[in-house]
Amino acid sequence: MVRRLMRDEAGLVVREDSVGNIYGTWPGSGGGGGTWGGGGGGDGGSAGDGQRLGAVLTGSHCDAIPLAGAYDGTLGVVGAIEALAALRRAGFRPLRPLAVVMFTSEEPTRFGLSCSGSRAMAGALDLKVLTALRDANGTGYLEAARGAGYGAASAEAMLAGARVEEGAVDYFLELHIEQGPELEREGLDVGVVTAIAAPAALEVAFRGPGGHAGALLMPGRHDAGLAGAELALSVERRVLSTGSPDTVGTTGRFEVSPGAVNSVPRAATLGIDIRDTDGARRDAVVAAVLDDARELAARRGVGVDARVANQDPPAACADDVQAAVQASADALGYSSKRMVSRAYHDALFMARVAPTGMVFVPCREGWSHRPDESASEGAIGKGVRVLALAMAELAGGKFGAATTGDEASKDEL
Ligand code: GLV
Ligand code: MN
Ligand code: MN
Repeated sequence: MVRRLMRDEAGLVVREDSVGNIYGTWPGSGGGGGTWGGGGGGDGGSAGDGQRLGAVLTGSHCDAIPLAGAYDGTLGVVGAIEALAALRRAGFRPLRPLAVVMFTSEEPTRFGLSCSGSRAMAGALDLKVLTALRDANGTGYLEAARGAGYGAASAEAMLAGARVEEGAVDYFLELHIEQGPELEREGLDVGVVTAIAAPAALEVAFRGPGGHAGALLMPGRHDAGLAGAELALSVERRVLSTGSPDTVGTTGRFEVSPGAVNSVPRAATLGIDIRDTDGARRDAVVAAVLDDARELAARRGVGVDARVANQDPPAACADDVQAAVQASADALGYSSKRMVSRAYHDALFMARVAPTGMVFVPCREGWSHRPDESASEGAIGKGVRVLALAMAELAGGKFGAATTGDEASKDEL
């Protein structure tokens, strides 16, 4: 579907990499050597002195969490394709290549690791981490990718095949729903993102001997479920103790086993998400929660295995990309404000590859990661226009293939 839209709606040259990131490219008019060419199908831009220009890349993800809405990520893929299609209709001729990417596996739903497509692109996916990834059925990442038709011979080959070539991307820009309430509450059209908060995820497993819910008296119990319950409360306590509204923590996964009403839990597995705009403060909360897990396991006489699935630093958006987004919103007459992204995005890793920015659009009540997530057609249209104009500005090039002045054609967006 996405491949078809890239090809048919925006005339892009489509390719996929070894982890399943899907790219659609519009070659730059400057000619040149195909630095970002879509598997040989396109030309890179040229600065005119033989130096090749990198692409202006945009995109997001189409995977989702359980009970997700329809807009998280998908807007930044479908909206990006429409932005490039609109630029074509407006007669734009880019100097730098313009490209859309649909990243694979942004959500940690299947393998427990967020943003695996953009991590791999940025060279931020460790071989050991990749080979250890397993889904709930024990299927490895490489095996799953092969099953889906991505035929890398080894994990090393898979990582090498996804890594973006140096100089291939000059800018990255992601369109996304805000996933919070600020823009709607303040009646603003778009958010110009300045930074992305630091996310971390922990996996904690407690194990006890279990036992009979009637016959095993309370003093003799080593209840793994209660260890988990205490840890979930400790996450909340540690987060609140920073005194900052920017520190947040969630025990979003809590499974007890064997899951029988008349059995003392012998295992509890928790998935814990901790974030902050301040990376050091987030790290201190993560360390305190890990200490708590060990302390309460010892106190309750249960075993514990606590693992950090990821602990990523925050990312700053580049000044020139923010300026391009701001100028585009202003030129289109849209109201805006600068704001931090509290959710993570593939942009968190693309910021390691190239100067990066994000455009936020308001979503209803700020709801996200729930089925009633929604954004209005009007709000989406404004975000797509801002994205298109900012990409044109960053790419360099000309509007109005035929005759008219730049302004007349920009108005077609
Ligand atoms: C993205 O899905 C996030 O959890 O921030
Ligand atoms: Mn999400
Ligand atoms: Mn998303």
